[in-house]
Amino acid sequence: MIALGCDHGGINLKNAVINYLKENNIEYKDFGCYSEESVDYPVFAYKVATAVADGEAELGILCCGTGIGISMAANKVKGIRAAVVSDEFCAEMTRRHNNANILCMGGRVIDEEKAVKLASIFLNTVFEGGRHQKRVDMITDIENGSFKL
Ligand code: RB5
Repeated sequence: MIALGCDHGGINLKNAVINYLKENNIEYKDFGCYSEESVDYPVFAYKVATAVADGEAELGILCCGTGIGISMAANKVKGIRAAVVSDEFCAEMTRRHNNANILCMGGRVIDEEKAVKLASIFLNTVFEGGRHQKRVDMITDIENGSFKL
């Protein structure tokens, strides 16, 4: 299951991604928001990030105006590696190398067509592991306060 969330600045991208998921029979849960009325992006970041961290969702997609604020909030939840992406190369590499579990995009940065393309790359790319696993483990150690130089 893919967890989706957005604020008013990202609702256009989230709706485009929902159409893509529906067309491809990919299960998803939409955690809101559901209109263009101004809302606070940390609320939706928290809902999606906890769904991913708790294992309710395999991966998440979050959209705000830039993708930045919503990623900052999501990354405060333990176990979350949320990446702001606006090009195809980074959408692929953040899965392959960083094992990102939430894709963040900005509705005032990219258009709907690009968002669907990036979401499809993100959802269809697997983590390489190997030497990258060690680095991702180091991120987890920083998060847990157990990182040693
Ligand atoms: C909301 O106006 C805007 O600040 C938000 O969508 C996002 O861009 C924050 O990073």
